[in-house]
Amino acid sequence: DFMKKPTNEPILEYKKGSKERTALEEAIKKYSSKETVVPLRIGKEKINGKLDKRQPMPFDHKRTLAKFSYATKDQIKSAIEATKAAREDWEKKPLKERADIILHAADLCATKYRMALNATTMLGQAKNIIQAEIDAACELIDFLRFNAFFALQHEKYQPISTKISTNKMIFRGLEGFVAAIAPFNFTAIGGNLASAPALMGNTVLWKPSDTAVLSNYIIFEILEEAGIPPGVLNFLPSDGPVFGDTVTADPSLGAINFTGSVPTFKYLWRKVAENLDNYESFPRLVGECGGKNFHFVHKSADLDSVAAGTIRSAYEYQGQKCSAVSRMYVPESVWPKLREKIESIRKNIKMGDATDGSVFMSSVIDKKAFDRVKGYVEMAKNSSDFEVVAGGKCDDSKGYFVEPTIIQSKRPDSKLMTEEIFGPVLTVYSYPDKDTEKTLNSVKDATPYGLTGAVFSNDKEFLYKARDTLKDAVGNLYLNDKSTGSIVGQQPFGGSRMSGTNDKAGSPYYVLKWTSPQTIKETS
Ligand code: ALA
Repeated sequence: DFMKKPTNEPILEYKKGSKERTALEEAIKKYSSKETVVPLRIGKEKINGKLDKRQPMPFDHKRTLAKFSYATKDQIKSAIEATKAAREDWEKKPLKERADIILHAADLCATKYRMALNATTMLGQAKNIIQAEIDAACELIDFLRFNAFFALQHEKYQPISTKISTNKMIFRGLEGFVAAIAPFNFTAIGGNLASAPALMGNTVLWKPSDTAVLSNYIIFEILEEAGIPPGVLNFLPSDGPVFGDTVTADPSLGAINFTGSVPTFKYLWRKVAENLDNYESFPRLVGECGGKNFHFVHKSADLDSVAAGTIRSAYEYQGQKCSAVSRMYVPESVWPKLREKIESIRKNIKMGDATDGSVFMSSVIDKKAFDRVKGYVEMAKNSSDFEVVAGGKCDDSKGYFVEPTIIQSKRPDSKLMTEEIFGPVLTVYSYPDKDTEKTLNSVKDATPYGLTGAVFSNDKEFLYKARDTLKDAVGNLYLNDKSTGSIVGQQPFGGSRMSGTNDKAGSPYYVLKWTSPQTIKETS
């Protein structure tokens, strides 16, 4: 039923011995026993190339999950041609038909391919079972279903007609192709970046992250099986700058749908500016970038829930959710107690292979991430500004493992309190109780980012004051809950300020980004 509001996909539990656990274990065995070849997909073509790139398993980096090749500049250009060839027929299809394909893909993700999506996300991106399930299964399925639903709702709402004029608005795709540039940290985001523009009638070049090639390719194949015609989606693992330079140099660039780092998004934006006189339309730039997300604790807060929420936000998926908390403000009167509570959970965190059903954490994604995070931890160890409260061990001999780490910063404006680390490192600034307001007022401008933040307080008056103070600080604000875990349809997600263009994935408005509507007035 097209007009029925979808419900969020239920999270499977994968209890030992359950049917789903057995199926998942089989999928893990299948994908870890061979090196899967991921081809380039350009129009009707499937191209293996030299297969000189590999996607390792981050927790056991000598093992290879998948092999692939980078698209050359010419291949990227021929994919742009393929989008043009596919465009007319695809856009001509009624939205309902396109939505039907997307909904069919959602069902395939929920059933036939659920274990493949989860297994490849676990093996390739080092997510544990539950982190894979909420991402590669539930969030992906939700994006597909809610986007289809929202798009059809928009089509229903039409402008006012009068006795003398019949007025209509039709949702066309954008003027040119969409370049979807996907991150490693959420499989679902890759699927959303590519499929939402396609749903609205666009044709897409999909560049997956090198470290999430296989899971993203499985989504591509699912969309293909569901009925997306050749050329509508083109799959192009590529060197970042080669891809970015080639798509931004093309006059028919219609949009960039990006999730990744601030410097890369700025790079793309500058390239668009350089090419501005050559475009056929103004390319639409949608970006979801980094963050320096905070938990602000008031002295009235329930410390057990702060501790539990902070552990989850800071360390789930090794702190590599863009929404993960990485700076925390705690009153001096409360910190010793909270520190104890957090540490009593932290010290029992189990780390290991992502496929081990009992681990809470696995490794960070790659050597670059490991070196960066380790660099910050070393800096803290060597500076009198910081105290490493707990954790801090880094070991990349087998996988890229970083212990869940707590660092106390003597200053609120230190590097660790202000720079994005993107790893399992929580920095705490313990503020004098008398400076509560002053500290709260400083939270926004402490960093250029504006992604997520949370305030914990049982004093409702303070809670709402903080909410108002932080109105412009972040795109997603949580009151008495952790900064991560937005759910499609429930907490539309997106950062403001330098965290992105804040187009709210998982909201009714997101799909509108991918249309260039035409208004038609017919006078009788
Ligand atoms: N949507 C993801 C979260 O909120 C990034 O954690």
